[in-house]
Amino acid sequence: MKKVGIAILGLGVVGGGTYEILRDHREFYKKTQDVDLEVVSVLELRRDRIEALGIPEENVASNIAEVVSNPDVNIVVEVMGGVGKAREFVLDALNAGKTVVTSNKELVCKYSHELERAAKRHNAGLYFEASCVGGVPIIRTLLDGVQANHISSMMGIINGTTNYILTKMTNDGASYLDVLKEAQSLGYAEADPTADVEGFDAAYKLSILSSLAFHTKVPFSKIFREGITTVTQDDIAYGKELGYCLKLLAIGKQTEEGIEVRVHPAFIKKEHPLASVNDSFNAVYLTGDAVDDVMLYGRGAGALPTGSAIVSDIIYAATHSENKYSTFKNNATAEKDVKFVSNFKSAYYLRLTVNDEAGMLAKIAAVFGKQDISIQEMVQKENAQDGKATLVLVTHATRELSLRSAVSKIASLGIATVDSVLRVVS
Ligand code: HSE
Repeated sequence: MKKVGIAILGLGVVGGGTYEILRDHREFYKKTQDVDLEVVSVLELRRDRIEALGIPEENVASNIAEVVSNPDVNIVVEVMGGVGKAREFVLDALNAGKTVVTSNKELVCKYSHELERAAKRHNAGLYFEASCVGGVPIIRTLLDGVQANHISSMMGIINGTTNYILTKMTNDGASYLDVLKEAQSLGYAEADPTADVEGFDAAYKLSILSSLAFHTKVPFSKIFREGITTVTQDDIAYGKELGYCLKLLAIGKQTEEGIEVRVHPAFIKKEHPLASVNDSFNAVYLTGDAVDDVMLYGRGAGALPTGSAIVSDIIYAATHSENKYSTFKNNATAEKDVKFVSNFKSAYYLRLTVNDEAGMLAKIAAVFGKQDISIQEMVQKENAQDGKATLVLVTHATRELSLRSAVSKIASLGIATVDSVLRVVS
């Protein structure tokens, strides 16, 4: 039976989960895959993690050189995160001809061109299923399952932390900051939550997924990104009354004008399949020209779900003699003839505070009319005691720049304050 030696760089949550799956399923993989997968080396500074997993001392390496020069190591699993040491160690492994399996979305998003070049040069594999949407096999789906298709669009909830926060705000009417604190105490959100709540994590994943879906490099810099830090429970409640649910969406589309890629909070109709993806769950909704709609749903994070993606990559690498690389020119930047759409089209939800007096609605409607923005729904929500009223309106689809011009005009005329602007996705 073929024996394949594995090294794991980092025994945090995901590294520990990966180790446990490999240890507990070893006999199962021998039977079902005809391969013996053995962890022969680990690189981890924290002794408590090594001891908690009961890893024998002879398998603990003291530096990366020891790992990559070990002839028993065939596959190196990088689960350290970041793009400093992780990039260096992954390059060391590839340059030594070792296949690499990584869960590092920032590394794959920013450096896949460099890593893939090193992998090809040394006939090594480079696999990254765990970098996007944890245990949900979205990368394999894009690389294999739906290759028959032109993918026209992809829409997903690909960050569990923000989905947990928005679900709690929706169901309990709690504030963003209160739910964030709770998410941090439960271990969903990091002590520094910026990567999740400002949409960076989702944007790294969207860059990887849209590059694979559209067969061209979609750099991180081309992704429009807005996080959830300014979302209020009032807007979620008003949206709910109008039949909407607020989600942090990652959207990738092939349009006649070019590729459109964006991450931002958006209202979707409560009947949309993504509206029922709650808590820390993730989902991706794809549309292909032959297959039509496909939706994948599952856990986007966690030791065992992410470990599942890593070990599936290990099994693929261990049981295939040919490596599989990307289906596009994997450079640092997009090719010159590829266009990206920044002035995209969307419907919008706006919340305004206005003086509650005659002629106010007409003035606001005139500003929108001038920008050729058609209003779908307008509701005066309440009369406050101070002579002000809250207006909630939803526009038909318009261009982002037209909407921003209308918002600036309203502010400059002093007829209303625009308290919130959120996109509405149909
Ligand atoms: N922090 C991510 C999330 C998981 O909340 O979805 C790892 O990508």
